[in-house]
Amino acid sequence: MRVAIIGQGYVGVTGAVALARQGHQVTGIEREPARLAALEAGRTPVSEPGLQDELSLARETGRLSFSSDLAHSHLRQPYDVVLITVGTPPGETGAADLSQVTSALAEVAALLPPPAVVLKSTVPPGSSARLLQAHPQLRDRYAYNPEFLNQGSALDDWTAPARTVVGLWSRDPLPVLHELYGALTCPWVVTTPDTAEMIKYASNTFLAMKISFANECARLCAAPDLDIDKVMQGVGLDPRIGHAFLQPGLGFGDSCLPKDTAALAHWAAGRGVDTPLLDATIAVNRAQPGLVRDVLREELGEQLAGCAIAVLGVRYEPWSDDLRAAPSRVLIPRLVAEAGAVRVWDPAVGAEQMRQLFPGARPCTDLKSAVQGARAAVVLTEWPETIEADWSLLAAGMAPPAVVVDGKNCLLPERLAGLPLTYRGIGNRLPDRVGAPAGAPRPAPSA
Ligand SMILES: NC(=O)c1ccc[n+]([C@@H]2O[C@H](COP(=O)([O-])OP(=O)(O)OC[C@H]3O[C@@H](n4cnc5c(N)ncnc54)[C@H](O)[C@@H]3O)[C@@H](O)[C@H]2O)c1
Repeated sequence: MRVAIIGQGYVGVTGAVALARQGHQVTGIEREPARLAALEAGRTPVSEPGLQDELSLARETGRLSFSSDLAHSHLRQPYDVVLITVGTPPGETGAADLSQVTSALAEVAALLPPPAVVLKSTVPPGSSARLLQAHPQLRDRYAYNPEFLNQGSALDDWTAPARTVVGLWSRDPLPVLHELYGALTCPWVVTTPDTAEMIKYASNTFLAMKISFANECARLCAAPDLDIDKVMQGVGLDPRIGHAFLQPGLGFGDSCLPKDTAALAHWAAGRGVDTPLLDATIAVNRAQPGLVRDVLREELGEQLAGCAIAVLGVRYEPWSDDLRAAPSRVLIPRLVAEAGAVRVWDPAVGAEQMRQLFPGARPCTDLKSAVQGARAAVVLTEWPETIEADWSLLAAGMAPPAVVVDGKNCLLPERLAGLPLTYRGIGNRLPDRVGAPAGAPRPAPSA
């Protein structure tokens, strides 16, 4: 099939590469010049495991190209189907900003002959119906098909999804979708566009709720003999619950959960629907970065002014370069305002980008120089370099009281036990004292 994908971000590039690998002739449409230039030069503008290699392979087959001009390439050889994977960022009120979707749909509606159109961007319930009012000619060719991939495993998730959700008014586009996703053997949920839109929001809200639940459990596990890791391990082993998204930390900070929970809350409020569970999920999450400040004040005293503090990792996750909603974006400016002497280190973020993101903080090129002389170190990313560091060496270079605040609960308490530092995780974490040989790795608290 001839396929165009409008919007070459995390979802769009992944989809373009995966569909070309499947044998389709794919054109990725991107309007942002720097992104397009990177793609045309054979480089992926977003970081995802395996994506660069697969992009290069797909380009070699001649089945993957990029362009800024949908209409022009359609004129040369019409597309069978156009996928829309543009951004739906949060507006000031928290509502999803659908301006990119609106203009992408208008571009597709202007094509002759009209192709099938598949919207994959996350949009609030009722959006497809409202947006298609301006393009009635597309209604019978239209499908809303939300994307569920996770950053960090985007290609695998696209290739082997847990389910395919399709919202339609007419069954006409179904054969197109079957041909498009031919190799997928997962269950299909075929429904109306409104319901498909709600499935996407309900799924992300549930995942966000699991993270906030884990964080609330961590608050409950503040007593000295309670171990949050063991609690979450014991809870998550129940197959009805599962370990995924049960990791306490500074809260959800990928690009989707914060914006999608906010958008759903805004959507519900506009309809006069009370959502106490959703509201609590968001409230718990908003409060999480503040925990770091509370711990620092407890350990360093009420006045943080002048305290040297090292922030270790600014990414939300090591495997994704998406910093749009990372807790570091909230926490580091607060620390700079209060403490002043903040150093930041992240092996994947260059000094120039650090300076732009965190004015007033001093970028450091290595872990050791970041913590040297610091009274506290705050871990925000589970970088292997941080987890496997020689903490006896790092602690020796820190200034008293050498507090280590683990915002990801990723350090191993048994490795830090006995060192001249004060370790504080999210909730109480105990060195593995019962039944495990000294130094044995702890079971991962999340899947
Ligand atoms: N990132 C994820 O992990 C993920 C997962 C599932 C669903 N989603 C949803 O998928 C959508 C896309 O997410 P993303 O993270 O890939 O977004 P993104 O912001 O990384 O990428 C969107 C791209 O679309 C381009 N664009 C916008 N309008 C265009 C137009 N008219 N023509 C050409 N290019 C255009 C932008 O320049 C940008 O490069 C969002 O609705 C998001 O909520 C994202």
